[in-house]
Amino acid sequence: MAKTIPEWTDELRTGDREIDTHHRALFQIVKRLAVAAELGRADLEVDTALTFLTEYGKHHFATEDQWMVRLNYPYIETHRAAHRAFVNQIADFHAQLNDATRAEVAQALVRFASDWFDRHVKLVDMPLIEFLRGQRQT
Ligand SMILES: [Fe+2]
Ligand SMILES: [Fe+2]
Repeated sequence: MAKTIPEWTDELRTGDREIDTHHRALFQIVKRLAVAAELGRADLEVDTALTFLTEYGKHHFATEDQWMVRLNYPYIETHRAAHRAFVNQIADFHAQLNDATRAEVAQALVRFASDWFDRHVKLVDMPLIEFLRGQRQT
């Protein structure tokens, strides 16, 4: 597969079943768009991907948010800001559909979402899951 197709790796597993299910679903939609873009079919997938990332993203971020509130998580504001940045960026891609081609938006979206996802899961979500695990043990 070409380098532009993101691949799921075990490093993205948090070990929490619900969160991993959400992450996989989000990852899959980005991968599907990347494959479509490689085949020159981004026009068919980009709207679906943007809608899915918006709606499912909200659902996923709300799940993490509920946990952070319940746990009195000390890094809640930083984590919330990261989620907000993602939502805003996705809205921006939506807006770009008015003046860029779907192929261009798809390419930029795949790059942004795979990078964001990789960094966010490893550096922001993992510490939350570890904190949660620590709380469950005490
Ligand atoms: Fe998160
Ligand atoms: Fe997450």
